[in-house]
Amino acid sequence: MIHRRSFLSLLGKGAVGTIIVPSLFISCRNKVSKIATVASEKMSHLKSVLLKGMKPISSDNVELAEGLSYKTLIKWTDPISDKDTFGCENDFICFIPLSEDGNDGLLWVNHEATRPLFVSGYKRGDQRTIEQVQKEMYSVGGSIIRVKKTNDNWEVVYNDPYNRRITAQTELSINWDTPIMGKTTIIGTHSNCSGGITPWGTILTCEENYQDYYGETLYDEENNTTHQASYHQWEDFYNYPTEHYGWVVEIDPITGNGMKHIALGRFSHECCTLVELEDKRVVAYSGDDQNDEFIYKFISSKPGSLKEGTLYVANTVEGKWISLDYDSQPLLQKRFKNQTEVLIRVREAAELLGATPQDRPEDIEIDPLTGHVIISLTNNKPKNRFHGCILKIVEANNQYDSLNFSVEIMFAGGPESGFSSPDNLAFDLAGNLWFTTDVSGRSMNNPEKKEYFDFKNNGVFVVIRHGDEAGKIIQIASAPMDAEFTGPWFSPDYKTLFLSVQHPGSLTRSLNQLTSTWPHDADGIPKSAVITIQGDLLEKLNYLDTLI
Ligand code: FEO
Ligand code: CA
Ligand code: CA
Repeated sequence: MIHRRSFLSLLGKGAVGTIIVPSLFISCRNKVSKIATVASEKMSHLKSVLLKGMKPISSDNVELAEGLSYKTLIKWTDPISDKDTFGCENDFICFIPLSEDGNDGLLWVNHEATRPLFVSGYKRGDQRTIEQVQKEMYSVGGSIIRVKKTNDNWEVVYNDPYNRRITAQTELSINWDTPIMGKTTIIGTHSNCSGGITPWGTILTCEENYQDYYGETLYDEENNTTHQASYHQWEDFYNYPTEHYGWVVEIDPITGNGMKHIALGRFSHECCTLVELEDKRVVAYSGDDQNDEFIYKFISSKPGSLKEGTLYVANTVEGKWISLDYDSQPLLQKRFKNQTEVLIRVREAAELLGATPQDRPEDIEIDPLTGHVIISLTNNKPKNRFHGCILKIVEANNQYDSLNFSVEIMFAGGPESGFSSPDNLAFDLAGNLWFTTDVSGRSMNNPEKKEYFDFKNNGVFVVIRHGDEAGKIIQIASAPMDAEFTGPWFSPDYKTLFLSVQHPGSLTRSLNQLTSTWPHDADGIPKSAVITIQGDLLEKLNYLDTLI
């Protein structure tokens, strides 16, 4: 396996400091002011570059701003080996370099959801079969694929020994001393939305809408339980408790071994973003992507541990992180039996202690130039907040293990800013902020949903960081019908953006009435896919002639 230092320095995400201030950023210091000073000195010469964005558009294609082009790398159903195929609805992407030049590596790709109509042939109202459920279980989880670049062209290495699938049937361990619902191993992962990376070279894949597969356990005031049925009805066929899902899952991309991190709490994890402190302890940020749910962070008490430590939840009104530790919170002791129960029902625990409801926290990234914690809030329709915003959390004294912070809205979505419902975030080499949008299929291009109509299809946007246009937001990509872009991740040389195209044609209810046919294969079936975007505009934005 590649050495940890090389791994971090070659990663194509948040790695600006590794090139400009290698010794500082590789160690991911908890005092970020040094990073900011050195980085901004080196970048102060960056001038405006001529950039032209694009207008919103509704087409059944991937449309790009002038100066960019794309290729499809891999699609749902493509074989990756003699025994496995690429999964459905790809989201989080992470490139793990296997060579010093960064042209050979592994891609981890999340498969967030299944599409019964296409995957298993199940239609609402039919009697489901176990064979259909098994096909759906295979379509989710994640893929590991070896990819290589020759002459600027990325290709999947078919049958590479590293190629493998993780699915809803893969056995995983738990990083916790107490069994979860009586088990110390868990079958499968699903709902894998966004994710993160660890300083020790593994990836984190986050279970988001877990309730759609095995339902949810509901509690009344007396702690009596009822089962809320799932959308996909898997619990009718497999007796796996829903408490086994809704966790952050760590996967070693080399061995394929995985474990669920119970200490990080159970909720609709959009992502998990780690910072390594000077003493090698870690801080893990994660948002719960449901209306009025919360932002969390875990601070480890031992180096490199995602088990020993304390989980906190944000009170953004008072700028405080509230401990969810059972032993030190009498209110938790009244309601729950022990720390394990607090973590399984952490939403209730957080609400009890005064956490601040948020407008669906999605992705979280650390600004490589300032060290600030950047969080996208996508929207909160029941509260008539339709367009979301991008938040900035500044930890007190720039210490990630601080329990106080300040918070402000950096960018609000809406007609004036030209974007709605921000979702995944990525910083590039020059510190420009890239983000994707996620207006739902039912709201997009729908004359009855006036708030969203002018935004047309979902897109990729960039906040310009340098020069006269600093702060300006431009659109650089538009997704096919009903789709969203997810999982943006840069190659180590920043010449390629890996990007997921997820759920094209998601409004399709019948094979006779497809709402998208992207990527326009001979069978006409819409398919999620990973694309590679390259071109002059990407190189200009990253100042590749100056910074590398
Ligand atoms: Fe799977 Fe919150 O997006
Ligand atoms: Ca998302
Ligand atoms: Ca989303």
